[in-house]
Amino acid sequence: MITTKPFGKTPLGKEATLYTIDNGTARASITDFGATLVNFEVKDKDGNFTDIVLGFDDVYTYDTDRGPYFGATVGRVANRIKGGKFTLNGKEYKLPINNNGKHCLHGGFDGFTFRFFDVTLGEDSLSAHIVSPDGEEGFPGNLDFTVKYTLVGADLTIEYFAKSDADTIINFTNHSYFNLNGGTSGKTILNHTLKIDADAYCECDSDAMVTGDIHPVENTPFDFRNEMLLSDVLGDDTGLLAPTAGGLDTNFILWTAKRELSYAASIYNKENGIALDCYTDLPGVQVYTGTFLDTVGKKKTPHGKFAGICLETQGFPNSINYRHFPSPILKAGEEFYSKTVYKAYVK
Ligand code: BGC
Repeated sequence: MITTKPFGKTPLGKEATLYTIDNGTARASITDFGATLVNFEVKDKDGNFTDIVLGFDDVYTYDTDRGPYFGATVGRVANRIKGGKFTLNGKEYKLPINNNGKHCLHGGFDGFTFRFFDVTLGEDSLSAHIVSPDGEEGFPGNLDFTVKYTLVGADLTIEYFAKSDADTIINFTNHSYFNLNGGTSGKTILNHTLKIDADAYCECDSDAMVTGDIHPVENTPFDFRNEMLLSDVLGDDTGLLAPTAGGLDTNFILWTAKRELSYAASIYNKENGIALDCYTDLPGVQVYTGTFLDTVGKKKTPHGKFAGICLETQGFPNSINYRHFPSPILKAGEEFYSKTVYKAYVK
């Protein structure tokens, strides 16, 4: 069943709607502003519904507090592009510089996250569609884009569909911050375990910009091949986690040769039994532990360092500028499709 309700107005007076898919086992609420996942409620070991994502209470705050990208659909190109420039078919493109005065982050100032989408409802699904015109935020090609959320039990599937009339670059992700204690619990994610099916990671500098170097996770704080308690790993800002202030803001490499939907990562909270597994067909997962969060979310909950963890399935950061990274190029007329599933359960 899907219910709809008003979700307030943006500063420019545009009204947003909140759609809730409810199947009795779980509920997912999505707004047409940015096709943003606002709530994801699943049952804990006692059968109590727990909203496991961070977010805001109304569209006004999503539009004015743009830093966190809570629950966001990110495009055209998620993550950083160095110097906000790239060359495609011999032509140089310049993008908005919205990160540390140096780089382009998450598709620019007015990426997909801050656009209103046209919504179509299915029985247990919601499709959100936009057309991004040629040159929007500096990217070439008229890009037709749809993100589809489907809730079956407590499995939330997110599918991306895109087509451009000119060669362009893309990298879509969902930027939900999970907190299995509950997004309004006020607790951090330090009591969660994290497991990532990655043997290697992308090194980054103190701007969280990848350097192009890839390292094995072995003997580093990036080794999550066996589940690790986050409080045992995070917080040390002297060693390899120094560039990311003791947290993770790291692209983990899931594959280099294209594969089908596969297991990527898990988080688990022993206290209330909630676990979440992430599956994707994408090559990387950017794990961001909310290290720089400083805002107030739903129900006036303060969110600081480690208030949530993002499992952003995506292509590698700045991949247009590295030949050894999977290509982000979408050729004119080609149909892009990708799928990520977040499966919540009690263990
Ligand atoms: C980036 C972080 C950034 C955050 C919020 C993440 O995807 O990796 O560096 O702070 O998004 O913009």
